[in-house]
Amino acid sequence: MTTAPLLLASGIDKAYGPTPALVGADFALRAGEVVAVMGPSGSGKSTLLHCLAGIVRPDAGTITYDGRELTSLPDAARSALRRSDFGFVFQFGQLVPELTCVENVALPLRLNGERRRSAELKAQEWLTRLEVEDVGGKRPGEISGGQGQRVAVARALVTAPRVIFADEPTGALDSLNGERVMQLLTDASRDTGAAVVLVTHEARVAAYSDREVVVRDGSVRSSEWAV
Ligand SMILES: Nc1ncnc2c1ncn2[C@@H]1O[C@H](COP(=O)(O)OP(=O)(O)O)[C@@H](O)[C@H]1O
Ligand SMILES: [Mg+2]
Repeated sequence: MTTAPLLLASGIDKAYGPTPALVGADFALRAGEVVAVMGPSGSGKSTLLHCLAGIVRPDAGTITYDGRELTSLPDAARSALRRSDFGFVFQFGQLVPELTCVENVALPLRLNGERRRSAELKAQEWLTRLEVEDVGGKRPGEISGGQGQRVAVARALVTAPRVIFADEPTGALDSLNGERVMQLLTDASRDTGAAVVLVTHEARVAAYSDREVVVRDGSVRSSEWAV
């Protein structure tokens, strides 16, 4: 393939005090592809994802998204970009406990200025698609972990992002629920054309990806298919 990458990271260094988390990490993501980021605990997977998503600013290296250098964008521009172009799913859904599930899913649209009624209609459509149409009126504390992750996936997809960042999205689920959430996440992203950066240490989760890279000691070591 010769398509230019949508997201390209080169030579990323990031340390937390004396602890190096990333050392010269390189990564490329093409539009629409699902890439699994594998590697042992502490190898730098989450740090890489946070740098790619513009949440953490690296100490060195460059990250280019759709022709813009993320690393040199001011904070306000980076958060605007995150809201418009990126979706996030974390290990524990990180839903807002005070909001109902439909309000949680509608929240990214509301933050982008969309009116409540149309935002909540879209949110309910995504809940239906994620097979949790019946939890819309409940709060996160009233639903199961598997339902919560489906709601979190709906929230990540509702803005039609170009990239979804998922950090061990099934890490807290039993294998049956984990499989279904992965299926729903990857089917929905393939339908909508979103690319996915999927951090996992589970081979069975990585099996849902188009391509795998392995992070070891802060470097991206290998990829099953050449980038
Ligand atoms: N906020 C932080 N403060 C201090 N050290 C951190 C922080 N986040 C990550 N680290 C350290 O950076 C390294 C990489 O962590 P991380 O990216 O979370 O790895 P992974 O997601 O692969 O488990 C580890 O040594 C971890 O302890
Ligand atoms: Mg991690």
